[in-house]
Amino acid sequence: MIGDVNLFLPNGVEEDGECEIMIASEHDRRKGYAVEALSLFLSYLTTSLPLPPTHLIARISSANIPSIKLFQRLGFGIVKHVKVFDEVEMRYASEIARDLDLADLALELDPGVVQSVDWRKTSLQGRLGSYDP
Ligand SMILES: CC(C)(COP(=O)(O)OP(=O)(O)OC[C@H]1O[C@@H](n2cnc3c(N)ncnc32)[C@H](O)[C@@H]1OP(=O)(O)O)[C@@H](O)C(=O)NCCC(=O)NCCS
Repeated sequence: MIGDVNLFLPNGVEEDGECEIMIASEHDRRKGYAVEALSLFLSYLTTSLPLPPTHLIARISSANIPSIKLFQRLGFGIVKHVKVFDEVEMRYASEIARDLDLADLALELDPGVVQSVDWRKTSLQGRLGSYDP
């Protein structure tokens, strides 16, 4: 096991679900594991639970640029800055909030060449296994 991916559903499938992902070792990062795992996971959630894609959110520290970029690639937009925790809330298929001042957040996101990932087309066929500790 190199990390984990989770969904928190505090109020059931009728309301928002918070996604989290972690690739534990630096050695295993930047190899595409997070984008692969999250694509499969999001596809599974929205086809098997089912959870509407627009109910998917992520809460990420404002300083965590790798994670913010990862979720952006998967189609999540920043909708809120929760100042008290200095974290952003991202939601699938949402435009960036108009009243949000990215300069205020000091995110320094470099748009660069962003290859977005259409995880909704990810096939689960033969790619979901069981956990064997
Ligand atoms: C964020 C995290 C899950 C990314 O895992 P990863 O396997 O390295 O990510 P991937 O290799 O799949 O990268 C996918 C994309 O994410 C972004 N990204 C990942 N690491 C990045 C970094 N260090 N700097 C900038 N962008 C980064 C890039 O857009 C990247 O695409 P690219 O490689 O084509 O540029 C990992 O860094 C991590 O576990 N961090 C600690 C836990 C955490 O912050 N979790 C998120 C809270 S929900």
